[in-house]
Amino acid sequence: MEKISTGIDGLDEMLHGGFISGRPYLIVGGPGAGKTILCMQFLMDGVKNNERCLYVALEEQASQLKQDMASFGWDIQRIKLLDTMQDLASGLWAIKTAGVISKPEFTLKNLIEAMRNIYMSYKPKRVVIDSLTSIKMLYESRTEARRELLGFLNFLETTNCTTLLTSELEGPDVLMEEFLASGVIKLHLIESEGERLSAVSIQKMRGTAFDKHMRPMKITDEGITVFPNESVFG
Ligand SMILES: Nc1ncnc2c1ncn2[C@@H]1O[C@H](COP(=O)(O)OP(=O)(O)OP(=O)(O)O)[C@@H](O)[C@H]1O
Ligand SMILES: [Mg+2]
Repeated sequence: MEKISTGIDGLDEMLHGGFISGRPYLIVGGPGAGKTILCMQFLMDGVKNNERCLYVALEEQASQLKQDMASFGWDIQRIKLLDTMQDLASGLWAIKTAGVISKPEFTLKNLIEAMRNIYMSYKPKRVVIDSLTSIKMLYESRTEARRELLGFLNFLETTNCTTLLTSELEGPDVLMEEFLASGVIKLHLIESEGERLSAVSIQKMRGTAFDKHMRPMKITDEGITVFPNESVFG
């Protein structure tokens, strides 16, 4: 099975070589845990290999994202951006790509439609969807949310792209999308003796063996570094 680098050496090591390509993966963690940075690092690794990369911005504004990522020296111009803005009052959604703006109703089906159009013309190899959290809130019942998310993940599997989806996690809950994705990577912020430590663990990864331990990580001006031979606790 072909594996694709995460863009982070230590995480590749934990995954025994990287992600199995062509599948959707979930990156979960609390606010500020590093989800967006991890995803961008994954896309920049693709850019380095001249692969076409797509970033679907569902929450953060593109202008802000460009600024944030510039602090790592990453020029995200080479990443195709699908920028969206929710207008809660009208229930409509401004979807922008390459100067064209459409305003469909805010649903997962319409997102799939917009993405399908880009896939046909652009044929990305790596895709990031950041984040699922606001989309999930569109659905009133858990059953409906689960059904729609399952449809969305099934769509992503048919695309043959390696896709990372982010999702916000607070506390010990397990999110319904964790059951649906091919793999789940969890980012942690741990308070220890007045210090905040970052760590990463792999919750699940279909089709491969992987490191079951939580490992320390650091966010610096270079992005995320994972220490696959170190332990978080003592
Ligand atoms: N240059 C840098 N050096 C060190 N840490 C940084 C740097 N830039 C950002 N950070 C840290 O990275 C974290 C933000 O990461 P990121 O935006 O990826 O989090 P996130 O999980 O996507 O958060 P959210 O849920 O708000 O979207 C912040 O806590 C910030 O302190
Ligand atoms: Mg983010």
